[in-house]
Amino acid sequence: MILALNNKCNLTKDEFLMYNEKLKKLNFTKTTVIVFPTSLYLGMFSSNKILLGSQNVSMFASGPHTGEVSAKQLKSLNVEYSLVGHFERREEQHETNNSINKKIKNLISENITPILCIGEVSSEQEIVTEVLTKQLQESLKDLSKNDIEKIIIAYEPIWSIGTGIIPSCNKIKTIVNYLKSLYPNNKVLYGGSVNVDNVVKLTKENIVDGYLIGGLSLHLDKVQTLLNTIEK
Ligand code: PGA
Repeated sequence: MILALNNKCNLTKDEFLMYNEKLKKLNFTKTTVIVFPTSLYLGMFSSNKILLGSQNVSMFASGPHTGEVSAKQLKSLNVEYSLVGHFERREEQHETNNSINKKIKNLISENITPILCIGEVSSEQEIVTEVLTKQLQESLKDLSKNDIEKIIIAYEPIWSIGTGIIPSCNKIKTIVNYLKSLYPNNKVLYGGSVNVDNVVKLTKENIVDGYLIGGLSLHLDKVQTLLNTIEK
């Protein structure tokens, strides 16, 4: 199982350093735990068992792109995973499937595992499979089968992110099964208002390969409870 902790745009430097110390005390043996701090703190991260991820990557490989952080630069900071296409970036930074496709290619060329976030808005629930298929096909355009299999898919219904509303287990199961029918060798995470209660159900039914959590990632006591549930 994978537990991905997306800190988003939270924590000052001192808060992050304290958070990092607490991260080291998390107790787990079987789970792959990845933390995604604000990019400023990537070089400050230290841990022997938690892996490092970036919340974003540039679609450019290098050069005159002020404010951008390239896949090669991430690699030089020991980043092993990167989120791409998170809904907040699609919405606030106008990211498109086309730019996401470039980001994925840059990550793969640096051996960083992309975690591709896909999801539908509330009004698209009836046509969710079409929406997800389009996002996947355009984001994965021109990638070899071998490269596609390196990607982790994170299904995050947009109406569930930060809202406390989560689809039923059956609904998640149907969608994850659909994604696995398209990409049988890819891991699929669920994200969107993950909490201790819904993880018990989802984990019991063995529906997903892991979870992408936002808000809860800042509360490491709750993360420990999640880990206990996952590892049971
Ligand atoms: P949330 O965020 O857990 O706060 O809903 C999930 C995400 O944005 O990945």
